[in-house]
Amino acid sequence: MPKSSRSISRAPIAKKSTKFTPNNLPSGIEIIDGNFKGKDIVSLDQFDKKSIKILFETVPKMRNIAMKASSSKILAGKIISLLFYEPSTRTHDSFEAAIKQLGGSVIGSPNPAQFSSAIKGEDLYDTIKTEEGYCDLIVLRHPQTKAAQDAATAATTVPIINAGDGIGEHPTQALLDMYTIYEKFGKLSNLKILLVGDIKNGRTVHSLLDGLALYQGNEVYLLSTKNLRLPEDEIKQFENKGLKIHTITTEDEIPKDAHVWYWTRIQKERFSPKELKNYEKIKNSFIVTAQMLKKHANKNMILMHPLPRVNEISKEVDSDPRAVYFKQTRNGMYIRMALLILVLGKQKTIRPHSKT
Ligand code: NCD
Repeated sequence: MPKSSRSISRAPIAKKSTKFTPNNLPSGIEIIDGNFKGKDIVSLDQFDKKSIKILFETVPKMRNIAMKASSSKILAGKIISLLFYEPSTRTHDSFEAAIKQLGGSVIGSPNPAQFSSAIKGEDLYDTIKTEEGYCDLIVLRHPQTKAAQDAATAATTVPIINAGDGIGEHPTQALLDMYTIYEKFGKLSNLKILLVGDIKNGRTVHSLLDGLALYQGNEVYLLSTKNLRLPEDEIKQFENKGLKIHTITTEDEIPKDAHVWYWTRIQKERFSPKELKNYEKIKNSFIVTAQMLKKHANKNMILMHPLPRVNEISKEVDSDPRAVYFKQTRNGMYIRMALLILVLGKQKTIRPHSKT
């Protein structure tokens, strides 16, 4: 039962959902199947092509709203809690901007890991149970993999949106990445996509692979150092979902006809103190320069990055029209606006004259 039908309200806590759901989703997490209302968004596994189409069709309307001088009132009266236990610039601020563009309000400590009751020893479950009494939706970023899933099962009256759970998933990032690819190529199938950097720990990579696996004929090249490769069992899982995967180790193996390069940061924070020496050794392994683009990329490709970057894309590349990482950040706000409207069941209140 979607949370909407338990009414998205500040009502007393209902009991935990124990419903079984398909797609290997944990109990209580539902597939979207074209109906977002009241549902948690914790994994790309909840999505199908139809749901992604609905989301993408809402984006131009969101762009229209964002272009206007004043914000809309679509989410007036809605309160959204932003609970970010890990640092964030883009995901946090684009959610906050999205909520404000739509006339909603935001609550939440800017640094809950330090300034919420977590520091006194409160666990995530108690924090979520408390927050759901104050708001209509919770956006959660947490260092623990599956934290959003657990929070979604704990919170029974409001939807949870996963804004990144450890090395697990980052569904809203994948959706904005897919939108950026779709904007450029007009399709999400039959593409050659190169993913580079921290393939093993990159939650944006994991969710994007899941998204690409929904479409026919996608071929993926994974370039990383040996210790940051995608584990064999995960490669198998993605292959079973329909992706063709090539693990490569050098820039010379990059196919010249790749449509997309998706570069990522080597995530220092995912290395244990013991492994830090390793980080120092590999941190400069793959760096995009103008020279390198000239040698290995074609004229029509796009260079993406979820950001933040450290040094893995040289600043000289920013002015290349193929570099779209700052376009991605803007698309992130539109995608999150669209998602909020759909999850909160407000799509019918978008003015009909909004251009698409
Ligand atoms: C990414 C994240 O937090 O997973 N950033 C983002 O949300 N845009 C990638 C990263 O931190 O490297």
